[in-house]
Amino acid sequence: MFKDLEGFLAPGSEEERLARELDLTRIPRHVAIIMDGNGRWAKSRNLPRIEGHRAGSKSVHEAVETSARVGIKVLSLYAFSKENWKRPKGEISTLFRLLADYLKKESKVLIENDLRLRVIGQKEGLPTLVRRELERVETLTRNNQRMQICLALNYGGRAEILDAVKKILNDKNRKSDDLSEEAFSRYLYTAGLPDPDLLIRTSGEFRVSNFLLWQIAYSEIWITPDYWPDFGRKQLLQALVDYQKRERRFGDIHAAT
Ligand code: IPE
Ligand code: IPE
Ligand code: MG
Repeated sequence: MFKDLEGFLAPGSEEERLARELDLTRIPRHVAIIMDGNGRWAKSRNLPRIEGHRAGSKSVHEAVETSARVGIKVLSLYAFSKENWKRPKGEISTLFRLLADYLKKESKVLIENDLRLRVIGQKEGLPTLVRRELERVETLTRNNQRMQICLALNYGGRAEILDAVKKILNDKNRKSDDLSEEAFSRYLYTAGLPDPDLLIRTSGEFRVSNFLLWQIAYSEIWITPDYWPDFGRKQLLQALVDYQKRERRFGDIHAAT
């Protein structure tokens, strides 16, 4: 079982120094990550792109463990976008095979650590075997409380908003045509979750690539030049320390309390 940060970080390391800087009473509730740069990581080592994806799954494990230990409640991970279908077939099928392997291996970790898996995106468009495995783990972990992992697969932010509009139009139980932002949010894939406080992107790209468009309206953004396979505890702690130095005003002239 993952505990807290005590004994987790090497004494005297940069990670330990960062962890001491963290205010554990002000940890963001929801952190969303655009896990980018696997291909370039592999290319820089003269390896096939898929080796970058393989190395990236180790970073996923580490991000999950560190997030749970610091007390993050929701971790959203962008793993495959609707636009990623444009990639070569071989890369896509190997990616999904890696995902299925990851789920088989990690489901035990999720159960032991009280972590819940929830898939966001158009699940029906995923390969059947992967979908079955995802649904198996979602069901196994559905009552877990410590942290939710929102895995974005076949996900597009615009598609999510359109899907919400379609659900609203088909919702026979809606009593009035009045619709608040809060009510609209309940039709999104992320229904019931707080908006991300912090959005992280790796590999130095300054764009959101169609991720959680509605939900990131007031998220703090942190970008690192590191490729996803090089993203470890240190980078996550750096992002959190930096986040805690920001003043979130939400349009006001003072910091929100
Ligand atoms: C992110 O890494 C993983 C996915 C989008 C599936 P990339 O595969 O996009 O790596 P780069 O951006 O080409 O380096
Ligand atoms: C964003 O990365 C999607 C995921 C991380 C899954 P991309 O590599 O697809 O984004 P672009 O094409 O650089 O915008
Ligand atoms: Mg990319």
